Amino acid sequence: MARLVINETKSLGTIAPEIYGHFSEHLGRCIYEGLYVGENSDIPNVNGMRTDVVEALKEIDVPVLRWPGGCFADEYHWKDGIGDKAGRKKMVNTHWGGVTEDNSFGTHEFMELCRQIGCKTYVNGNVGSGTVREMSEWVEYMTFGGQSPMSELREKNGSKEPWTVDYFGVGNENWGCGGNMTPEYYANEYRRYQTYVRQYSDDHKIQKICCGPNVDDYGWTENVLKTLYNRYPQGQPPMLDLLSLHYYTVPGSWKDKGSATEFDEEEWYKTLAKACWMETLVERHSTIMDKYDPEKKIGLSVDEWGDWFNVEPGTNPGFLYQQNTVRDALVAGITLNIFNRHCDRVKLACVAQMVNVLQSVILTDGEKMLRTPTWHIFRMYRHHQGAQLLESSLGGVENTGMGEWQVPELTHSVSERDGVITITLCNLSAEASKNLEISFADLKAMDVVEAQILAGDTLQDHNTFEEPDRVALKEFDAWCVEDGKLCMDIPAASVVSIRVK
Ligand code: AHR
Repeated sequence: MARLVINETKSLGTIAPEIYGHFSEHLGRCIYEGLYVGENSDIPNVNGMRTDVVEALKEIDVPVLRWPGGCFADEYHWKDGIGDKAGRKKMVNTHWGGVTEDNSFGTHEFMELCRQIGCKTYVNGNVGSGTVREMSEWVEYMTFGGQSPMSELREKNGSKEPWTVDYFGVGNENWGCGGNMTPEYYANEYRRYQTYVRQYSDDHKIQKICCGPNVDDYGWTENVLKTLYNRYPQGQPPMLDLLSLHYYTVPGSWKDKGSATEFDEEEWYKTLAKACWMETLVERHSTIMDKYDPEKKIGLSVDEWGDWFNVEPGTNPGFLYQQNTVRDALVAGITLNIFNRHCDRVKLACVAQMVNVLQSVILTDGEKMLRTPTWHIFRMYRHHQGAQLLESSLGGVENTGMGEWQVPELTHSVSERDGVITITLCNLSAEASKNLEISFADLKAMDVVEAQILAGDTLQDHNTFEEPDRVALKEFDAWCVEDGKLCMDIPAASVVSIRVK
């Protein structure tokens, strides 16, 4: 039996709501069709945004949305996406399928989408193929409230008032698709570009995001920070609020990543073991950051994470459309538990991507829409947003798996918000349930206010447009309170949440 000991009297910090963020790129059917169908579509929409999708996103309390890429961001020229739609430039989306990008979704549309969802804005600028002036003018266009060429242009295009940009990414993956730069070169470019990301509002500071490492490229983290800090006294955070980290869970090789729906138990464990590796990545990059920023003023922004499988058979390889099974639910649950428990450093994260691309929370087909198992995990975990992480320790957990692919039987995180304690648990075993006893420091006569489970009949279970609710949250009843302890049996391959006060 496993034992989880919770000290509900000791908070370890606030879980930033933005850990539950999302990413939307001009890629495949994420923006076009997935989120935006245009004002003249037969699909119900408000100002072009799909009503069904926006409603489903509101149910998971999306805190922040990143746009326009990804690799697309370093080829995006924002002025192509403003003004009269008929006159907007058409470009080729070289990264993603070579399709025509008509720029009908641009800055105004992104701001409108975020308004409808009710989330913060994370705009990613172009360092790879853009200029300092272009980036600086974009920031002026979006956020300057006084009189200037860019604010006048914005007003001419229908928005008198400036918008709020909460986060601004100065380039994306500049070690790769964003310009193939060395860390030293990028860091010097970062210094220059970010200088002109002006703070026009006294009340609201744009948080600047510096391009961080690819997976376990610790040299990138070290050399970028060294270059950024070398003219600043120790302890003075220079020019950046967050450093990004990108890590995708790919069970196979980049050439043959593995199927999203057809996998055996070994591939199940391989995938989950790779998802668990996120903890090592967060800890090691954070240790390097500690050298430069011991007070942890700079956050880690894991603004691309999730499963990356082969595309669904018969779909455009450049569109990255994949199904989403119970395995994706486990990857989401494991990853979000890791972020919660490292909320001292992880301040932002974006699952890739929001709709129809990679590990999406929503899939669409014409006018049809479904919520994926990953959506259900975001729904289940939403109570952690803005909550206090509680001190806890999990014992009696063995490793399980196949061959070299070993994972812990259980992972967890615990938080408290508005007097309710939320405990989220993942059982990583493909076949064995696990007994768990939970005790608290003081809480003995507890009231269980909600208990939910996400599981399937098989590991490969997923939702289809014919059966959209096959994998969905259900009430969890395999628990009892005995001698002031909460006892439960957590089924194999499941994610459980239990909320007590
Ligand atoms: O999410 C798909 C792509 O993955 C993004 O465009 C890029 O940043 C990353 O390599």
